[in-house]
Amino acid sequence: MDGLTGKVVIITGASEGIGRALAVAMARMGCQLVISARNETRLASLALEIANYGLPPFVFAADVSRAEQCEALIEATVAHYGHLDILINNAGMTMWSRFDELTQLSVLEDIMRVNYLGPAYLTHAALPHLKASKGQVVVVASVAGLTGVPTRSGYAASKHAVIGFFDSLRIELADDNVAVTVICPDFVVSQIHKRALDGAGNPLGKSPMQEAKILTAEQCANMMLPVIATRGRQLITSLRGRLGRWLKLIAPGLIDKIARRAIASGH
Ligand SMILES: NC(=O)c1ccc[n+]([C@@H]2O[C@H](COP(=O)([O-])OP(=O)(O)OC[C@H]3O[C@@H](n4cnc5c(N)ncnc54)[C@H](OP(=O)(O)O)[C@@H]3O)[C@@H](O)[C@H]2O)c1
Repeated sequence: MDGLTGKVVIITGASEGIGRALAVAMARMGCQLVISARNETRLASLALEIANYGLPPFVFAADVSRAEQCEALIEATVAHYGHLDILINNAGMTMWSRFDELTQLSVLEDIMRVNYLGPAYLTHAALPHLKASKGQVVVVASVAGLTGVPTRSGYAASKHAVIGFFDSLRIELADDNVAVTVICPDFVVSQIHKRALDGAGNPLGKSPMQEAKILTAEQCANMMLPVIATRGRQLITSLRGRLGRWLKLIAPGLIDKIARRAIASGH
């Protein structure tokens, strides 16, 4: 795809789900990838898979909630490839608990560290390189960053934070010709639902989603690619998400009902 071939691209959260699907698709397009996450075994198996049809990726394990590991990821990327074109902040985690049933408040901190501070740390370290390449920063936020979602209060807060952060950054970077792209997926099949933290801070262990009725990670990645390639401003993957932007202004109670129903039905 024009605009992506040959680009040096970091993808965080590449070991699973949307990040993995995106890495596979971008490798097929001839991107020079850096794949990152914490699980080194899964990253190594992805690197082997990618080497079958694309350029061998550079693998760098990092925990995005740690500022020094974010800096190390950016430094290692530039040392390896010489420059950086696109940073894709995709790593993320979620919760599944009503706020009044939350017994471990650390859930809120963990989610904010991974979903909001991680992208902020990485982008801060990457900015000098992105300015030099007139590159692009992408964040995988969520429709939960655009409206409230029950059982996801801490997650929605982190995604509202990240959208506010990157919408602000876009204005700051306009003169530097660094593009900022915000992706807002609706539900997608991935590991995130079974890994979601319950009120006691433990992973649910099974997905409460009706997985046959929601986007696959590959479908989500395919929707993201043209938006990234054209340095688009924002992608909302579902019709209800796109219409919801307008409905929220004129009938906010209806949007609350749609969000309540989506969580109750799992799709
Ligand atoms: N799936 C959905 O329904 C959905 C909807 C809207 C938005 N999103 C967003 O899409 C993004 C990708 O999620 P997904 O659905 O693909 O989830 P996933 O299958 O659980 O993948 C999450 C990825 O993030 C990595 N990760 C988690 N914590 C990390 C940390 N502290 N440091 C570094 N990497 C970390 C995980 O790898 P390791 O465990 O190996 O570190 C994994 O590769 C997230 O930002 C999520 O909020 C997802």
